[in-house]
Amino acid sequence: MVAPLFRHVALVGMMGSGKTTVGTQLAEGLGRRFVDSDAQVEARTGRTVREIFEHDGEQAYRVLEAEALADALDAEEPSVIAAAGGVVLDPENRRRLNQGAWVVWLRADPEVLAGRLLPSGGERAPSDPDHRPLLADDPEGTLRRLTTEREALYAEVADTTVEVTSRSVDEVLLSISEWLRT
Ligand code: S3P
Repeated sequence: MVAPLFRHVALVGMMGSGKTTVGTQLAEGLGRRFVDSDAQVEARTGRTVREIFEHDGEQAYRVLEAEALADALDAEEPSVIAAAGGVVLDPENRRRLNQGAWVVWLRADPEVLAGRLLPSGGERAPSDPDHRPLLADDPEGTLRRLTTEREALYAEVADTTVEVTSRSVDEVLLSISEWLRT
């Protein structure tokens, strides 16, 4: 367990891949602070992600997202960071992640993400609409498209990939802990 003592662990992956759930428990297990980059954005601005998207646009949100990530990575005390799903779009974010953290990609099939994020049948409004405005229209199609667009970027930044499709939180945690020990 030498490496994780000195470096942040950052979880990346699509919306619904379990970054917050896994990250909270991983931080507890490692005795570290847990930092959620979007929670930082919302705390700083006093607005939800959806409000920022609606009033200022996605690009303005991406700037705040990058600042929150940079601050989390700059902190001296090693933490576990849940990085918002879109951070990998920005090459500078990818560089910072690689420089400042062990990066774990929680990879899931889009169908699994949809199963987790969208109520089954009837209304297809996504869960947590204040946090996930991108899923307001055609959420299933959007999850498929974003997964296709981003897989190579997650792969580029990842030090390890943990498949979360059909695996429990405990199994995912075990995989990450075993990898951190190597
Ligand atoms: C986004 C993911 C969301 C949130 C925003 C945009 C994305 O965070 O930052 O809705 O572009 O994938 P989570 O990955 O925590 O759901």
